[in-house]
Amino acid sequence: MRVLSGIQPSGSLHLGNYFGMMKKMIDYQQHHELFCFIANYHAMTSVPDGKALATGTLEAAANFLALGLDPDKSVFWVQSDVPEVQELTWVLSNFTPMGLLERCHSYKDKVAKGIAPNHGLFAYPVLMAADILLFGGELVPVGKDQKQHLEVARDIAIKFNNEHGEVLVVPEPDIDDEIATIPGLDGQKMSKSYKNTIDLFLEEKALRKQVMRIVTDPTPVEDPKDPDKCNVFQIYRLFLDKQQEQALRQRYLAGGLGYGEVKQELFETVRDFFAPFAQRREELLGDKDQLRAILAEGAQKARGAASKIMRKVRKKTGLAY
Ligand code: TYM
Repeated sequence: MRVLSGIQPSGSLHLGNYFGMMKKMIDYQQHHELFCFIANYHAMTSVPDGKALATGTLEAAANFLALGLDPDKSVFWVQSDVPEVQELTWVLSNFTPMGLLERCHSYKDKVAKGIAPNHGLFAYPVLMAADILLFGGELVPVGKDQKQHLEVARDIAIKFNNEHGEVLVVPEPDIDDEIATIPGLDGQKMSKSYKNTIDLFLEEKALRKQVMRIVTDPTPVEDPKDPDKCNVFQIYRLFLDKQQEQALRQRYLAGGLGYGEVKQELFETVRDFFAPFAQRREELLGDKDQLRAILAEGAQKARGAASKIMRKVRKKTGLAY
């Protein structure tokens, strides 16, 4: 099974990215053919500063590698190092009804928030379809916020295939109910744009500050509390196995557990969970040439796979003449 997904290098990565997508990808590489990339073209829709985009790209790559993505077991590259994706985007644009894009929540939400709509933002899902279809991705692990974009990719693939035969693989989304939407500090979806994230690889002080900002209700310490309504619990459980989760649940229900105490425990848990990866991350970022070499090798492998599918696409569409 070919598993494929990407992540934007737009600022620091957070627990939503980690549990919603990165951890799953890292687990998949043991038994599947894994394709994973840093979506820097997509990030251009929100990061206009060139320096920030370049730095963010290397940092996102270092984060993924430090957390366990193995470039020898997978194909790991930066989106813009495989320019065929732009060619396929154009081809697919001709199989993308305007209405399909006009219905996209992510586009509509951004416009509603006052972001000036441009063509990049509008065509974002077509580029995303090209990302997947260019490599024949069969299974695409994503969080729930990307579900509609996956449906768009499927629709485009089906439309292309209806015209040209079974050329493109129609991808399946891989969205786990349990972690479909990781909540942020305020209980809304964890997202950089809501400023409610717990970020990966923070300094201890900054991490503690984020955890302490988790919104809780005013129930007194001695009273029993409902774990299912508690933002701290909803984040904490990501780090626990079933038995540990049950034990924490009991402590909530018994009363006597203060939110301050459980936040301190969560802070220590997050810190200790990511600490072993921090050193590897520093090493990777300390030798950027080496990091670029890893990415260049990944891009070469990715281009090999892309060229096979593009050859068929060019032939079918008449671009090869
Ligand atoms: P991006 O960079 O916003 O997020 C990367 C991944 O993290 C997931 N995620 C979450 N999952 C659960 N709970 C949350 N609070 C949460 N926040 C983020 C996202 O769902 C995503 O899977 N468009 C994509 C990047 C992309 C892509 C692709 C993905 C570009 N091309 C092709 C798959 C296939 C995005 O913006 O992800």
